[in-house]
Amino acid sequence: MQVFRHADEMRAWSLSRKCAGKRVGFVPTMGALHEGHLSLMRAAVRENDVAVASIFVNPAQFAPNEDLDAYPRTFDSDLEMSQEAGIHAIYAPTASAMYPEGYSTYVNVDRVSEGLCSRTRPHFFRGVATVVVKLFNAVLPDRAYFGQKDAQQYAVIKRMAQDLDMGIEIIEMPIIREPDGLAMSSRNQYLGPEDRQRALCLSESLFRALDALEAGERSVDKIVRMVRDGMKDVDIDYVEIVDAETMQPVNEINRTVLLAVAAQVGPARLIDNIKFAPPEATAAQ
Ligand code: PAJ
Repeated sequence: MQVFRHADEMRAWSLSRKCAGKRVGFVPTMGALHEGHLSLMRAAVRENDVAVASIFVNPAQFAPNEDLDAYPRTFDSDLEMSQEAGIHAIYAPTASAMYPEGYSTYVNVDRVSEGLCSRTRPHFFRGVATVVVKLFNAVLPDRAYFGQKDAQQYAVIKRMAQDLDMGIEIIEMPIIREPDGLAMSSRNQYLGPEDRQRALCLSESLFRALDALEAGERSVDKIVRMVRDGMKDVDIDYVEIVDAETMQPVNEINRTVLLAVAAQVGPARLIDNIKFAPPEATAAQ
Protein backbone atom coordinates (compact mmCIF):
# COMPACT_ATOMS: atom_id res chain seq x y z
CA MET A 1 0.00 0.00 0.00
CA GLN A 2 1.38 3.38 -1.01
CA VAL A 3 0.96 6.56 1.01
CA PHE A 4 0.83 9.90 -0.83
CA ARG A 5 1.12 13.30 0.82
CA HIS A 6 0.81 15.49 -2.29
CA ALA A 7 -2.07 15.91 -4.72
CA ASP A 8 0.25 15.71 -7.74
CA GLU A 9 1.71 12.35 -6.69
CA MET A 10 -1.71 10.96 -5.89
CA ARG A 11 -3.10 12.11 -9.24
CA ALA A 12 -0.14 10.67 -11.19
CA TRP A 13 -0.68 7.27 -9.52
CA SER A 14 -4.42 7.29 -10.25
CA LEU A 15 -3.94 8.51 -13.82
CA SER A 16 -1.54 5.69 -14.60
CA ARG A 17 -4.10 3.17 -13.30
CA LYS A 18 -6.91 4.79 -15.27
CA CYS A 19 -4.82 4.84 -18.46
CA ALA A 20 -4.38 1.09 -17.98
CA GLY A 21 -8.19 0.83 -18.05
CA LYS A 22 -8.60 0.32 -14.32
CA ARG A 23 -11.55 1.65 -12.33
CA VAL A 24 -10.65 3.59 -9.20
CA GLY A 25 -12.82 3.32 -6.06
CA PHE A 26 -12.40 5.93 -3.33
CA VAL A 27 -13.28 6.24 0.37
CA PRO A 28 -12.72 9.68 1.96
CA THR A 29 -12.23 9.56 5.76
CA MET A 30 -10.92 11.63 8.64
CA GLY A 31 -9.13 8.59 10.10
CA ALA A 32 -9.70 7.12 13.58
CA LEU A 33 -10.98 4.19 11.57
CA HIS A 34 -13.61 1.74 12.79
CA GLU A 35 -15.78 -0.99 11.22
CA GLY A 36 -18.00 1.65 9.58
CA HIS A 37 -15.07 3.00 7.57
CA LEU A 38 -13.80 -0.51 6.88
CA SER A 39 -17.15 -1.57 5.40
CA LEU A 40 -16.81 1.27 2.87
CA MET A 41 -13.22 0.29 2.11
CA ARG A 42 -14.11 -3.36 1.55
CA ALA A 43 -16.87 -2.33 -0.87
CA ALA A 44 -14.43 -0.07 -2.75
CA VAL A 45 -11.93 -2.95 -2.99
CA ARG A 46 -14.60 -5.44 -4.07
CA GLU A 47 -16.27 -3.27 -6.69
CA ASN A 48 -13.25 -1.61 -8.38
CA ASP A 49 -9.87 -2.58 -9.84
CA VAL A 50 -7.97 -0.36 -7.41
CA ALA A 51 -9.11 1.30 -4.18
CA VAL A 52 -7.88 4.51 -2.56
CA ALA A 53 -8.77 5.92 0.88
CA SER A 54 -7.96 9.36 2.19
CA ILE A 55 -7.14 10.27 5.77
CA PHE A 56 -7.46 13.98 6.43
CA VAL A 57 -8.99 15.82 9.39
CA ASN A 58 -10.45 18.71 7.45
CA PRO A 59 -10.21 22.05 9.32
CA ALA A 60 -12.72 23.66 6.94
CA GLN A 61 -15.60 21.60 8.34
CA PHE A 62 -14.95 22.40 12.01
CA ALA A 63 -16.20 25.62 13.59
CA PRO A 64 -13.76 27.43 15.92
CA ASN A 65 -15.62 26.11 19.00
CA GLU A 66 -15.64 22.49 17.76
CA ASP A 67 -13.35 19.51 18.38
CA LEU A 68 -10.70 19.91 15.64
CA ASP A 69 -7.79 19.62 18.07
CA ALA A 70 -9.39 16.89 20.17
CA TYR A 71 -10.49 14.82 17.14
CA PRO A 72 -8.83 11.38 17.51
CA ARG A 73 -5.76 10.87 15.33
CA THR A 74 -4.55 7.26 15.02
CA PHE A 75 -2.60 7.37 11.77
CA ASP A 76 -0.40 4.28 12.22
CA SER A 77 -3.23 1.93 13.12
CA ASP A 78 -5.36 3.54 10.37
CA LEU A 79 -2.70 2.53 7.84
CA GLU A 80 -2.64 -1.03 9.15
CA MET A 81 -6.42 -1.34 9.07
CA SER A 82 -6.61 0.13 5.55
CA GLN A 83 -4.00 -2.30 4.32
CA GLU A 84 -5.87 -5.23 5.86
CA ALA A 85 -9.05 -4.05 4.13
CA GLY A 86 -7.17 -4.31 0.81
CA ILE A 87 -6.72 -0.59 0.07
CA HIS A 88 -3.99 0.03 -2.54
CA ALA A 89 -3.16 3.68 -1.83
CA ILE A 90 -3.72 6.21 0.93
CA TYR A 91 -3.92 9.93 0.29
CA ALA A 92 -3.04 11.85 3.46
CA PRO A 93 -2.31 15.47 2.65
CA THR A 94 -1.29 18.06 5.25
CA ALA A 95 -3.63 20.88 6.25
CA SER A 96 -1.14 23.50 5.06
CA ALA A 97 -0.91 21.87 1.63
CA MET A 98 -4.70 21.67 1.36
CA TYR A 99 -5.35 25.22 2.59
CA PRO A 100 -2.23 27.33 1.97
CA GLU A 101 -2.21 31.00 2.78
CA GLY A 102 -4.48 32.84 0.36
CA TYR A 103 -6.82 29.88 -0.09
CA SER A 104 -10.16 31.36 -1.22
CA THR A 105 -12.35 28.83 -3.04
CA TYR A 106 -15.34 27.10 -1.44
CA VAL A 107 -18.15 24.97 -2.81
CA ASN A 108 -21.72 25.65 -1.66
CA VAL A 109 -24.48 23.20 -2.38
CA ASP A 110 -27.77 25.06 -1.87
CA ARG A 111 -31.00 23.67 -0.38
CA VAL A 112 -29.87 20.11 0.39
CA SER A 113 -27.20 21.59 2.71
CA GLU A 114 -29.80 23.56 4.63
CA GLY A 115 -31.64 22.39 7.76
CA LEU A 116 -30.72 19.44 9.99
CA CYS A 117 -27.00 19.61 10.87
CA SER A 118 -26.38 22.98 9.24
CA ARG A 119 -28.66 24.72 11.72
CA THR A 120 -26.08 24.24 14.47
CA ARG A 121 -23.11 23.87 12.11
CA PRO A 122 -23.73 26.53 9.43
CA HIS A 123 -20.42 26.15 7.54
CA PHE A 124 -20.14 22.40 7.90
CA PHE A 125 -21.35 21.29 4.45
CA ARG A 126 -19.43 24.03 2.68
CA GLY A 127 -16.29 22.62 4.33
CA VAL A 128 -17.24 19.05 3.44
CA ALA A 129 -18.16 19.79 -0.20
CA THR A 130 -14.98 21.81 -0.67
CA VAL A 131 -12.64 19.16 0.70
CA VAL A 132 -14.42 16.35 -1.16
CA VAL A 133 -13.95 18.19 -4.48
CA LYS A 134 -10.27 18.68 -3.66
CA LEU A 135 -9.89 15.00 -2.75
CA PHE A 136 -11.74 13.95 -5.92
CA ASN A 137 -9.41 16.16 -7.98
CA ALA A 138 -6.39 14.36 -6.54
CA VAL A 139 -7.75 10.81 -6.56
CA LEU A 140 -9.78 10.97 -9.80
CA PRO A 141 -12.18 8.22 -8.70
CA ASP A 142 -14.77 6.46 -10.84
CA ARG A 143 -16.80 5.61 -7.73
CA ALA A 144 -16.80 7.13 -4.26
CA TYR A 145 -18.30 5.54 -1.13
CA PHE A 146 -20.10 7.35 1.69
CA GLY A 147 -21.95 6.06 4.76
CA GLN A 148 -25.66 6.54 5.45
CA LYS A 149 -24.49 7.41 8.99
CA ASP A 150 -23.97 10.93 7.57
CA ALA A 151 -27.07 10.90 5.39
CA GLN A 152 -27.16 14.64 4.70
CA GLN A 153 -23.48 14.58 3.73
CA TYR A 154 -24.21 11.80 1.22
CA ALA A 155 -27.16 13.77 -0.20
CA VAL A 156 -24.99 16.91 -0.53
CA ILE A 157 -22.14 15.06 -2.28
CA LYS A 158 -24.53 13.21 -4.58
CA ARG A 159 -26.21 16.50 -5.59
CA MET A 160 -22.84 18.20 -6.09
CA ALA A 161 -21.41 15.40 -8.26
CA GLN A 162 -24.51 15.52 -10.43
CA ASP A 163 -24.72 19.32 -10.64
CA LEU A 164 -21.03 19.74 -11.50
CA ASP A 165 -20.94 16.92 -14.09
CA MET A 166 -18.21 15.14 -12.20
CA GLY A 167 -18.86 11.74 -13.78
CA ILE A 168 -18.26 10.05 -10.42
CA GLU A 169 -20.71 7.47 -9.12
CA ILE A 170 -21.60 8.30 -5.50
CA ILE A 171 -22.50 5.19 -3.54
CA GLU A 172 -24.21 5.03 -0.15
CA MET A 173 -23.42 2.21 2.28
CA PRO A 174 -25.50 1.08 5.29
CA ILE A 175 -24.82 2.21 8.87
CA ILE A 176 -22.58 -0.16 10.82
CA ARG A 177 -23.60 -0.44 14.48
CA GLU A 178 -22.16 -1.77 17.72
CA PRO A 179 -23.84 -5.02 18.88
CA ASP A 180 -26.14 -2.97 21.16
CA GLY A 181 -27.28 -0.71 18.30
CA LEU A 182 -25.14 2.42 18.77
CA ALA A 183 -24.04 3.71 15.35
CA MET A 184 -20.26 3.48 15.11
CA SER A 185 -18.52 6.85 15.15
CA SER A 186 -15.02 8.12 15.81
CA ARG A 187 -16.64 10.46 18.35
CA ASN A 188 -17.98 7.55 20.44
CA GLN A 189 -14.49 7.52 22.00
CA TYR A 190 -15.45 10.71 23.86
CA LEU A 191 -18.19 8.86 25.78
CA GLY A 192 -17.63 7.73 29.36
CA PRO A 193 -19.53 4.61 30.54
CA GLU A 194 -22.66 6.50 31.67
CA ASP A 195 -22.90 8.62 28.51
CA ARG A 196 -22.25 5.50 26.43
CA GLN A 197 -25.30 3.91 28.04
CA ARG A 198 -27.44 7.05 27.58
CA ALA A 199 -26.38 7.26 23.92
CA LEU A 200 -28.30 4.05 23.22
CA CYS A 201 -31.58 5.97 23.31
CA LEU A 202 -30.85 7.39 19.82
CA SER A 203 -30.82 4.04 18.01
CA GLU A 204 -33.46 2.51 20.29
CA SER A 205 -35.88 5.36 19.55
CA LEU A 206 -35.19 5.14 15.82
CA PHE A 207 -35.80 1.40 15.80
CA ARG A 208 -39.09 1.85 17.67
CA ALA A 209 -40.12 4.44 15.08
CA LEU A 210 -39.15 2.08 12.28
CA ASP A 211 -41.36 -0.62 13.82
CA ALA A 212 -44.25 1.86 13.95
CA LEU A 213 -43.67 2.91 10.32
CA GLU A 214 -43.51 -0.71 9.24
CA ALA A 215 -46.78 -1.34 11.11
CA GLY A 216 -48.41 1.43 9.04
CA GLU A 217 -48.03 4.61 11.13
CA ARG A 218 -47.79 7.56 8.69
CA SER A 219 -48.14 10.61 10.93
CA VAL A 220 -44.98 12.75 10.91
CA ASP A 221 -45.98 14.39 14.21
CA LYS A 222 -46.61 11.09 15.97
CA ILE A 223 -43.33 9.57 14.84
CA VAL A 224 -41.34 12.67 15.79
CA ARG A 225 -43.06 12.82 19.20
CA MET A 226 -42.36 9.16 19.77
CA VAL A 227 -38.65 9.59 19.03
CA ARG A 228 -38.42 12.74 21.17
CA ASP A 229 -40.07 10.90 24.07
CA GLY A 230 -37.48 8.16 23.79
CA MET A 231 -34.61 10.69 23.88
CA LYS A 232 -35.60 12.56 27.05
CA ASP A 233 -32.29 11.72 28.77
CA VAL A 234 -30.12 13.47 26.17
CA ASP A 235 -29.90 17.02 24.91
CA ILE A 236 -31.79 16.86 21.59
CA ASP A 237 -30.53 19.03 18.73
CA TYR A 238 -33.14 17.85 16.22
CA VAL A 239 -35.55 15.04 15.41
CA GLU A 240 -36.81 15.43 11.86
CA ILE A 241 -38.41 13.63 8.97
CA VAL A 242 -37.25 14.86 5.56
CA ASP A 243 -37.28 13.76 1.94
CA ALA A 244 -34.34 11.33 1.70
CA GLU A 245 -32.96 12.96 -1.44
CA THR A 246 -33.62 16.69 -1.06
CA MET A 247 -33.49 16.90 2.76
CA GLN A 248 -36.60 19.11 2.69
CA PRO A 249 -39.12 18.59 5.52
CA VAL A 250 -42.17 16.50 4.60
CA ASN A 251 -45.74 16.71 5.88
CA GLU A 252 -46.63 13.26 4.69
CA ILE A 253 -44.75 9.98 4.58
CA ASN A 254 -45.54 9.14 0.97
CA ARG A 255 -42.03 8.68 -0.48
CA THR A 256 -38.62 7.55 0.81
CA VAL A 257 -37.96 9.59 3.92
CA LEU A 258 -35.07 10.07 6.29
CA LEU A 259 -35.79 10.15 10.01
CA ALA A 260 -32.71 11.85 11.41
CA VAL A 261 -31.68 12.72 14.96
CA ALA A 262 -28.83 14.65 16.53
CA ALA A 263 -28.12 15.07 20.23
CA GLN A 264 -25.44 16.17 22.59
CA VAL A 265 -24.59 13.29 24.92
CA GLY A 266 -22.09 14.52 27.49
CA PRO A 267 -19.02 15.62 25.53
CA ALA A 268 -20.10 14.10 22.21
CA ARG A 269 -22.49 15.35 19.56
CA LEU A 270 -24.02 12.21 18.06
CA ILE A 271 -26.14 11.69 14.96
CA ASP A 272 -28.12 8.70 13.75
CA ASN A 273 -30.91 7.98 11.28
CA ILE A 274 -33.07 5.47 9.50
CA LYS A 275 -34.55 5.56 6.00
CA PHE A 276 -38.04 4.34 5.28
CA ALA A 277 -39.68 3.70 1.91
CA PRO A 278 -43.45 3.20 2.33
CA PRO A 279 -44.34 0.05 0.37
CA GLU A 280 -47.51 1.73 -0.97
CA ALA A 281 -45.41 4.55 -2.51
CA THR A 282 -42.77 2.29 -4.05
CA ALA A 283 -45.49 0.08 -5.52
CA ALA A 284 -47.11 3.19 -7.11
CA GLN A 285 -43.87 4.37 -8.77
P1 PAJ B 1 -15.57 10.37 8.69
O1 PAJ B 1 -16.44 10.83 9.80
O2 PAJ B 1 -14.23 9.82 9.00
O3 PAJ B 1 -16.38 9.31 7.85
C1 PAJ B 1 -15.88 8.79 6.64
C2 PAJ B 1 -16.97 7.98 5.98
O4 PAJ B 1 -17.31 6.87 6.83
C3 PAJ B 1 -18.25 8.80 5.78
O5 PAJ B 1 -18.79 8.52 4.48
C4 PAJ B 1 -19.16 8.28 6.87
O6 PAJ B 1 -20.54 8.38 6.57
C5 PAJ B 1 -18.72 6.84 6.95
N1 PAJ B 1 -19.09 6.27 8.26
C6 PAJ B 1 -18.83 6.76 9.49
N2 PAJ B 1 -19.41 6.00 10.44
C7 PAJ B 1 -20.06 5.00 9.80
C8 PAJ B 1 -20.87 3.91 10.22
N3 PAJ B 1 -21.12 3.65 11.50
N4 PAJ B 1 -21.38 3.09 9.26
C9 PAJ B 1 -21.15 3.32 7.95
N5 PAJ B 1 -20.40 4.35 7.49
C10 PAJ B 1 -19.86 5.18 8.40
O7 PAJ B 1 -17.45 11.91 6.95
C11 PAJ B 1 -16.30 12.30 7.03
O8 PAJ B 1 -15.31 11.60 7.67
C12 PAJ B 1 -15.84 13.62 6.43
O9 PAJ B 1 -16.89 14.55 6.46
C13 PAJ B 1 -15.28 13.48 4.98
C14 PAJ B 1 -16.34 12.96 4.00
C15 PAJ B 1 -14.05 12.57 4.98
C16 PAJ B 1 -14.83 14.88 4.48
O10 PAJ B 1 -13.90 15.44 5.33
